[in-house]
Amino acid sequence: MGRRRIVAGNWKMNKTPTEAVALVEELKPLVKNDDVDVVFCVPAIDIIPVVEAAAGTNIKVGAENMYFEDKGAYTGETAPGMLVDAGVKYVIIGHSERREYFKETNEDINKKVLKAFEYDLIPIMCVGESLDQREQGITMDFIRQQVKVGLLGVTAEQAASMVIAYEPIWAIGTGKTATTEQAQEVCAAIRVCICELYGEETAEAIRIQYGGSVNTKTASDLFAQADIDGGLVGGASLKADFGAIVNA
Ligand code: PGA
Repeated sequence: MGRRRIVAGNWKMNKTPTEAVALVEELKPLVKNDDVDVVFCVPAIDIIPVVEAAAGTNIKVGAENMYFEDKGAYTGETAPGMLVDAGVKYVIIGHSERREYFKETNEDINKKVLKAFEYDLIPIMCVGESLDQREQGITMDFIRQQVKVGLLGVTAEQAASMVIAYEPIWAIGTGKTATTEQAQEVCAAIRVCICELYGEETAEAIRIQYGGSVNTKTASDLFAQADIDGGLVGGASLKADFGAIVNA
């Protein structure tokens, strides 16, 4: 198993451009680790100063969202070509907050994933169930649907290069991390789903993160699981803790 670990911070709607540069300066020495891909996914307006502040380090910069059209009359949206030109390598697609508050559907997310690949951006596609769905026992049906629709038209080679983040909605920002068993179980099932769609080789290559209240205490157990290749970290990515998580 040669999958390289990937730990990404999701800053959400936090940090002004000035604050963003200060945070990069603070975290730079703490996240130095050549064995892990380290990604800072930041608000669109912070991308350019963060790319500049992170130049010459191991930090890669990601966006938190993008639109699925190349350009045009879509007021307020960010085009994939703009991200590439600004130095972005990764893009979070289909975060549960975008699904919930901005009504993004699996179909929208699929369009964004396909568009990201057109521009050689690496999608971090988020999936995850609500507490209701978990209690109803439909977690895996729901997540398999998100994965399958999200990846329609994606080739095996593209799928192998991307990242899927499993983020149970009930664990996001709640301080209630999923247990390592719960997280591993779903990440393993996502890998089985990828195997059914694309075969063994792609399933072995694709990287699957866990996200949802990852902190300095829970990270090392989570990242030690066979099918968890790193994490997508919200709250704890905005402070020095992120360094310990990268090194967990
Ligand atoms: P959290 O957020 O770590 O603050 O729970 C994770 C995410 O939403 O990506």
